[in-house]
Amino acid sequence: MSASNATPATSESAVPKVRIAGLHKFFGELHVLKGIDLTVQPGSVTVLVGPSGSGKSTLLRCINELETIDAGRVWVDGELIGMREVQRPDGTVQLHALTDKQRAAQRSKIGMVFQRFNLFPHMTALGNVIEAPIHVRRMDKQQARARGVELLERVGLGDRLDHYPSQLSGGQQQRVAIARALAMDPELMLFDEPTSALDPELVGEVLQVMQDLAADGMTMVVVTHEMGFAREVGDQLIFMDGGLVCESGDPVQVLDHPTQERTQAFLASVL
Ligand SMILES: Nc1ncnc2c1ncn2[C@@H]1O[C@H](COP(=O)(O)OP(=O)(O)O)[C@@H](O)[C@H]1O
Ligand SMILES: [Mg+2]
Repeated sequence: MSASNATPATSESAVPKVRIAGLHKFFGELHVLKGIDLTVQPGSVTVLVGPSGSGKSTLLRCINELETIDAGRVWVDGELIGMREVQRPDGTVQLHALTDKQRAAQRSKIGMVFQRFNLFPHMTALGNVIEAPIHVRRMDKQQARARGVELLERVGLGDRLDHYPSQLSGGQQQRVAIARALAMDPELMLFDEPTSALDPELVGEVLQVMQDLAADGMTMVVVTHEMGFAREVGDQLIFMDGGLVCESGDPVQVLDHPTQERTQAFLASVL
């Protein structure tokens, strides 16, 4: 159970950390997201599940602007993503694309962790973590190092600072990737199947770091097939199928009493 369950941070009055309304996404002729509505409260953990190809990764990529959207709106912290609305004198609302710089500023508030860790192979664990703060944020080197050490300690890698990715297990590399994302002080963390590429015995250490992060109050959207994590850490579970939200709600409720046939079939296949 994440700390957020007990705090008023998830109350209805808070500005949602993420709000998505009527989101559509096409790849050419392929209609991948077919009208997604979604709300993520601050400090909560949303678990996204669904069959391969249902649009989970695309949805995450629309939240952090790795994809442009074809219809609908995405807000992070109440701020429209990728565009701004301009009220015309006649009352109509026109959409203006944000500049690359404005979009980069929005994206820098969102951390993302992928299935493949994508660490720089020629840099140590610490080097990977301090790269963006120094080169993107222009943070002072000493300060970035101190913060990097602190973050690597937080993910249990205080004794691996000078190891290169090739000298680390998959689970350790993924924990470095999480520390690297945290180094940019994100307000929201997106995880796309963070444990799917790991040997089974390494999955637990990564899930534990994610659970600790949730307990510290980080807002997280997690695509995973780890139903134990969904049940214990998730505040809401969203089942996607064919580019639509098929069923959503309290994870324990959805997992134990799925109401939709497609949810039942999917859960039977992964549990
Ligand atoms: N860049 C792309 N170009 C064309 N089709 C894509 C692209 N990315 C994803 N798709 C297609 O969109 C659908 C949803 O993909 P994805 O979001 O990766 O699903 P999931 O993460 O649920 O497995 C799939 O049919 C996939 O082949
Ligand atoms: Mg995917």
